[in-house]
Amino acid sequence: MLSTGPELRLLRLVSCLTLVLLCQVTDAKKDLKSACNTCRQITENFNKGFERTANQNFGGGNTAWEERKLSKYETSEIRLMEIVEGLCDSSSFECNHMVEEHEEHFETWWFKRKTKHPDLHKWFCIETIKVCCPKGTFGPDCNACVGGSERPCHGNGACDGDGTRGGNGKCSCHHGYTGEFCLDCIDGYFNEVRNDSFSLCTECHSSCKTCTGATNQDCDECKEGWEEDDQGACVDVNECSKDPVPCKEDQYCLNTEGSYFCKACDTVCSGCTGAGPDNCQACASGYQDTEGTCTDVDECSQSEPVCTKEHQECVNNQGSYTCICSEGYEERDGECVQTQQPDTAEESEAPETTASPHGEL
Ligand SMILES: *[C@@H]1O[C@H](CO)[C@@H](O)[C@H](O)[C@H]1NC(C)=O
Repeated sequence: MLSTGPELRLLRLVSCLTLVLLCQVTDAKKDLKSACNTCRQITENFNKGFERTANQNFGGGNTAWEERKLSKYETSEIRLMEIVEGLCDSSSFECNHMVEEHEEHFETWWFKRKTKHPDLHKWFCIETIKVCCPKGTFGPDCNACVGGSERPCHGNGACDGDGTRGGNGKCSCHHGYTGEFCLDCIDGYFNEVRNDSFSLCTECHSSCKTCTGATNQDCDECKEGWEEDDQGACVDVNECSKDPVPCKEDQYCLNTEGSYFCKACDTVCSGCTGAGPDNCQACASGYQDTEGTCTDVDECSQSEPVCTKEHQECVNNQGSYTCICSEGYEERDGECVQTQQPDTAEESEAPETTASPHGEL
């Protein structure tokens, strides 16, 4: 067991390396997506900061001198700094790192590009630091998503990496849709409208497994629990009318649309056709039929006594009875014997104490 051959070790090394490489590749792809998200957050916060500082000034009011000397606050470096300070949460490493790394770009944009390129996300994230792509495109070269950049996945799904430099551009379709282009419908849905670039999938009738339309007459195949009738429509199967009924003996069957339930009979029944004591097929032992309902038999008031030992009394309960000893008597070895008086009771406990070597005698 301990002899690890060189081949085995090599194999392990190779598999480890493959794993690491695979992880790095997927990590890198995730990084590309998250870098874009970070950048998007930064530019959104920039726009918020821009609005927040819209009505501010140098503090203490712009004097005419300041306006001339320092130029207006509106376009000042001080306003830019105030905005840049609010771009990231202090805890977000990725955000702070990105802002620090590209701080000079914000200055460039603020002083030289803002007028010509007012969309900061487009200028900064897409065109300058290239971590994002225009909407509907993905990957290092911003290629169009599957289904085209106008309506990725034909409007019926999400394009992997959409708007980032990551992802593979493939679709994950919304519920109801499937296929590479999200134009096909999943089982249980049908194409209400369909051409090469547009598809609307609608849910089938609840009786259909697959269908071509919305009603129970448009099923290709009935769902389990439904069957085709003479007109070719899918109708509910009444499982409860089957022979044998698919429930246990102490249960009754309840049909539902597309299925059925088995429910426990009332305890007073031995077999039943429904809920309660008046739907019994027969009464359980200890119960008798009284005008169609199973009721408890009072065994204690029967002509033939059931508790026959001496000093015994009968107590009736639901479905049965018990025999107990009369007052002043207690059960010993199946017989009712007179309860002993306190002084004689002590005597009877004496043998137990003999078990102790230091017992008082
Ligand atoms: C496809 O159908 C949609 C919706 O009915 C329509 O707007 C579109 O022009 C159609 N496209 C083609 C290529 O027929």
